[in-house]
Amino acid sequence: MKLTLSHIKADVGGYVGHSASHPEVLAKADECLTKAKQAGLLIDYHVTKCGDDLQLIMTHQQGEESPQIHKLAWDTFLEGTEIAKKLKLYGAGQDLLSDAFSGNVKGMGPGVAEMEFEERKSEPVIIFMADKTSAGAWNMPLYKMFADPFNTIGLVIAPNMHAGFTFEVHDVKGHKRITLHAPEEIYDLLVFIGAPSRYVVKAVYHRGTGEIASVSSTQRLSLIADRYVGKDDPVCIVRAQGNFPAVGEILEPFTFPILVQGWMRGSHHGPFMPVSIPDSTPTRFDGPPRVTAAGFQLAEGKLIGPRDMFADKSFDLARQQANEIANYMRRHGPFEPHRLPLEEMEYTTMPQVVSKLEGRFVDLG
Ligand code: F6R
Ligand code: MG
Ligand code: MG
Repeated sequence: MKLTLSHIKADVGGYVGHSASHPEVLAKADECLTKAKQAGLLIDYHVTKCGDDLQLIMTHQQGEESPQIHKLAWDTFLEGTEIAKKLKLYGAGQDLLSDAFSGNVKGMGPGVAEMEFEERKSEPVIIFMADKTSAGAWNMPLYKMFADPFNTIGLVIAPNMHAGFTFEVHDVKGHKRITLHAPEEIYDLLVFIGAPSRYVVKAVYHRGTGEIASVSSTQRLSLIADRYVGKDDPVCIVRAQGNFPAVGEILEPFTFPILVQGWMRGSHHGPFMPVSIPDSTPTRFDGPPRVTAAGFQLAEGKLIGPRDMFADKSFDLARQQANEIANYMRRHGPFEPHRLPLEEMEYTTMPQVVSKLEGRFVDLG
């Protein structure tokens, strides 16, 4: 059965500040998607949140970039915004950058990750959701899952994965894409994806069958809006088992709380902390950045789940380390590398300060 799994998300208002989502907004989204399921547009759906982001996970047979599905998501975000306005939630409608919907939510603020595939005999998928970070946060985890034998032993000892995977990388500033093959091109691949503010892994494919293995949202809000309107808070879908890494190989990269861009005012480096879905409530210095993982088995398009994958005890140490790293980074205060370099900061007072002090700068001679 050919199935499309669409994940569309937006921040339509925070509760309190940017720290979480309000249950009434989630309930409204549930109501909207129930109607779409009853009308036969959706096979199934799951509404959840990650921090202050409303997450719509939908299965259907309309294909990728379907105007009907995108309109459903857009209208759901508008309905959520109405509730957010009524409750005066913080930043109501924050990610809806345009007033007019034109058939596709891409470039309008929401984050989108969609894949169309033939549902396998058993189809486990893991959906990662992040808050307080930007689109490149998946680069290192995806590299580890699909190209690093120290993470994924299947690349070495599983015959159906031994040929490796293909990475589609987007240059989000140059608006270009390139396809690179692992393992033979990993040095070239790393030159790009090691710079995650510009080069972002969009998708991963199985080398032997060409099947889609993973897709992520690559929308960079600040580049769309040309001003700061909040962090991208990206999502990433990964298919598991069989020709793809095992569930445990897919979760393993998150035992290492890598430093990602985001956190307070979108202008800091901080540890990427794996948490359960209820614990995606970034509070300390508006963070630290969070990642959640919802696991599903698909059955004829029905979403069986979710299982809250990072609720497991085996991620306790990663959380502990993330909190220690958060302490260490915070002690740098307004200094780099905690604060982002000038060109990466989402907020800055630099132009005002420079113009105020212009006359006081003296030539070094
Ligand atoms: C980061 C984020 C928050 C806000 C901060 C200030 O992605 O959303 O850290 O940047 O709370 O928010 P404003 O400027 O709305 O007061
Ligand atoms: Mg927000
Ligand atoms: Mg957010």
